[in-house]
Amino acid sequence: MRIAVCGKGGSGKSTVSALLAKQMAKTKNVLVLDIDESNYGLHTQLGMAAPRDLMEYFGGKKSFKEKQKAPKTSSLGGLTQTGANTGTQQSRFFKSRWSFSDLPSEFVEKKGEVRLMAVGKIHDFGEGCACPMGVLTREFLENLDLGKDDVVIVDTEAGTEHFGRGVDKDFDLLLVVIDPSYESLKLSKKFGEFGNQCGCKVYFVLNRVEPDIREEMLNSVIGVNVLAEIPAKRELFKASLKGEELDLELEEIEKLVEFLENI
Ligand SMILES: Nc1ncnc2c1ncn2[C@@H]1O[C@H](COP(=O)(O)OP(=O)(O)OP(=O)(O)O)[C@@H](O)[C@H]1O
Ligand SMILES: [Mg+2]
Repeated sequence: MRIAVCGKGGSGKSTVSALLAKQMAKTKNVLVLDIDESNYGLHTQLGMAAPRDLMEYFGGKKSFKEKQKAPKTSSLGGLTQTGANTGTQQSRFFKSRWSFSDLPSEFVEKKGEVRLMAVGKIHDFGEGCACPMGVLTREFLENLDLGKDDVVIVDTEAGTEHFGRGVDKDFDLLLVVIDPSYESLKLSKKFGEFGNQCGCKVYFVLNRVEPDIREEMLNSVIGVNVLAEIPAKRELFKASLKGEELDLELEEIEKLVEFLENI
């Protein structure tokens, strides 16, 4: 199963991704893929060291950009028109298909059954945009075969850019994290539209829900698609402030996982 966790900046995507991964890892093999080039804290929430950028596996961003210019080849070795998706094209970057056991260990952090990989971060002033990270994310996901007990949870960057890059086309579902803000509630409609366009089911996780605002949050989304209502929890906030692992078990996350496992 491939799950994209998305939402507005600061809505709680990384928190939900980390809690979900830890809960799902009790019964599944989980890979968390960090595609947020400008956040540096997900690994701490999972209690791991920061993984090396997968982009380095391909020689770094500069070399990756060079490879991007090469025409795609068909699986029979012949040339196809650049960019045309014939279904037989071989990746310009991957020589063979990967499953979890092929993931290069020097780019994977692991704790229990949770693996963490990061596509790439912005490290230096003036190094250029993050578009190559978007391309690598798309190709990596296209090239990854999952076994029946494998789950990929993608912690996306804030907002909508990953939809523009077409990263979300291979997901089974989008989990949209909604915090109590006008912007987030507005954006939830847009995420619904993107979900329809890329053929993914869209579900919502309401985050930082408090009794006096619950009704308003529920009214702004399609109620049947709300899978969890996570309360505002001081422990979560404090742990992230100190850069500590999220060791909390929430019944809302347990129920969410139960639902996901039965899809
Ligand atoms: N249910 C919650 N209760 C209390 N605090 C929360 C809750 N969910 C998230 N937070 C806090 O909100 C802040 C933002 O959370 P988080 O980093 O998960 O958001 P994000 O959507 O991943 O942000 P970004 O867009 O920057 O990647 C953190 O300080 C986190 O601890
Ligand atoms: Mg985040």
